[in-house]
Amino acid sequence: DWVMTDYANEFIEEVRAKVGPTGHVIGAVSGGVDSTVAAVLMTKAIGDRFHAVLVDNGCLRKDEATNVLKRMRGDCGVNLRCVDAKDRFLGLLKGVTDPEKKRKIIGGTFIDIFQEESAKIVEECGKCDFLLQGTLYPDVIESISYKGPSATIKTHHNVGGLPATMKLKLIEPLRELFKDEVRELGIALGIDEASVWRHPFPGPGLAIRILGEVTPERVAILQEADAIMIEELYSSGHYRAIGQAFVVLLPVKSVGVMGDGRTYENVACVRCVETTDYMTADFYHLPFEVMGNMSSRIINEVRGINRLCYDISSKPPATIEWE
Ligand code: XMP
Repeated sequence: DWVMTDYANEFIEEVRAKVGPTGHVIGAVSGGVDSTVAAVLMTKAIGDRFHAVLVDNGCLRKDEATNVLKRMRGDCGVNLRCVDAKDRFLGLLKGVTDPEKKRKIIGGTFIDIFQEESAKIVEECGKCDFLLQGTLYPDVIESISYKGPSATIKTHHNVGGLPATMKLKLIEPLRELFKDEVRELGIALGIDEASVWRHPFPGPGLAIRILGEVTPERVAILQEADAIMIEELYSSGHYRAIGQAFVVLLPVKSVGVMGDGRTYENVACVRCVETTDYMTADFYHLPFEVMGNMSSRIINEVRGINRLCYDISSKPPATIEWE
């Protein structure tokens, strides 16, 4: 793809000129396509003088931090450090059930940790005055002219949103691109297809998919169920047609029977949506057979879930996430 290769080369030249031969750049990454493409570009431009930070907030998908480290550091050579802040986040989330409070705690703590980490990087390498952000063209437009309905209904926090007080000069390699172009660029850069085609994942992560209190036990239950659900979408060939897919853990228990025993366990719900812009969405018409496989695997393999539902609501009037 010549267009994208040219785009990448131009950016690399530009950024080398801007950062100079000794400058350092930091950036938060999530493992999503935008931050991965931005980080790989940056690494091609200035190597280890780009410092990527992944914050494990304890609400990531199963094995996510390990997998992102392997893909980004192992496969793509990105100078990436992972901050294990699971206990800190989960400690602060203890007893919290309000969705907006969860978002505030996670967003605020993320910023604190990122600032602490930046300070360490400055100490290690002398100076660091540039910040990489994976802002896309639609984000640019949205922030100047148009606020989507969900932005006013939920206070979105994303890895991009860092405070202006950090006084860093911004580098935004993707700010002229749409999502499909970022994917093309990712492929042109040789990033693996699975990373390039990943569904978006919200900043607050599983915390807003565990309705009610977020506890380490409930995170573990949801991680298992979510991993099985995604496996089934891949193996049935539906993953790519879906805009976003996840499992929600409900604060409801139901009676079941296993062997000759009674169970009284959690109810979970699968949500798969078809969408182009995430502003509106239709529930994905997943074949019953695939639902059936998900259901029997999740209920049999995940201790703590004994009933599975499928969400058939569209947006609007429902939103994509449940909180
Ligand atoms: P809703 O639930 O508003 O979601 O229909 C639209 C898209 O936004 C994502 N989402 C979030 N992303 N921080 C994020 O980074 C958040 O707090 C947040 N809440 C929702 C959601 O996953 C979907 O892609």
